[in-house]
Amino acid sequence: MAGKRLILMGPPGGGKGTQAKRLQDRYGIVQLSTGDMLRAAVKAGTALGQEANAVMDAGKLVSDDLIIAMINERVDLEDCKNGFILDGFPRTVRQAEALDKMLKEKGIKLDSAIEVAVPDARLIERIIGRFTCAKCGEGYHDKFKQPKKAGVCDMCGGTEFTRRADDNAETVGARLKAYHDQTAPLMPYYQGRGLLKVIDGDRDMDVVTADLESILGT
Ligand code: AP5
Repeated sequence: MAGKRLILMGPPGGGKGTQAKRLQDRYGIVQLSTGDMLRAAVKAGTALGQEANAVMDAGKLVSDDLIIAMINERVDLEDCKNGFILDGFPRTVRQAEALDKMLKEKGIKLDSAIEVAVPDARLIERIIGRFTCAKCGEGYHDKFKQPKKAGVCDMCGGTEFTRRADDNAETVGARLKAYHDQTAPLMPYYQGRGLLKVIDGDRDMDVVTADLESILGT
């Protein structure tokens, strides 16, 4: 069985979260989304949340030190023992270097770093159309993934949905800029370590999932 400690990389709205949830269910490994962790901190009003809130709304990156500390604690938890999918982390070369160091200290080996590649032109439509069930967090899209019954979550029957504060046309430009300037250099970083795999994320969700499963194996 191929290893199951992986990084999912790709632009904002590229489908990392959608695919990470599917891999989590399929393989019993845990999705570690730094974006979800930060949004939970914002909602809970913690000191971290207060610090991150304005930065996220501006589409910029939260400080490396805060993020690294958050992940360092999280991978120690029991549910990561079977494997994990890092979704949205690392996002800078400094975060990648810190991850290497942290995993080495913990005696954990990273199995792959997978880029889900999607052209910029597709991303705005994907991001602006996204919404989520307020009760269970299931993700939907106005055009690409509507609930089977309008206004009712397929998974839990919830009838309230939310949209992210940073999912608007103005902020998306800043998020894309942050991605190209600060995160894209991770591709050669992982290529150089023999860990990078690239898949075309500009296809049907199920086809993208099948590609990921062929990388991860049974
Ligand atoms: P984060 O939450 O990580 O956001 P992001 O990287 O911008 O990615 P998204 O969640 O927007 O997109 P996704 O790739 O998960 O796409 P999804 O599957 O939802 O980060 C938010 C903010 O937090 C950052 O801007 C930053 O401020 C901060 N932050 C987080 N991590 C950080 C870090 N490490 N360092 C510093 N700051 C950090 O798909 C999008 C939509 O498209 C959905 O509606 C979905 O249904 C649809 N869709 C998915 N796949 C397909 C497909 N194949 N075809 C058609 N539609 C599709």
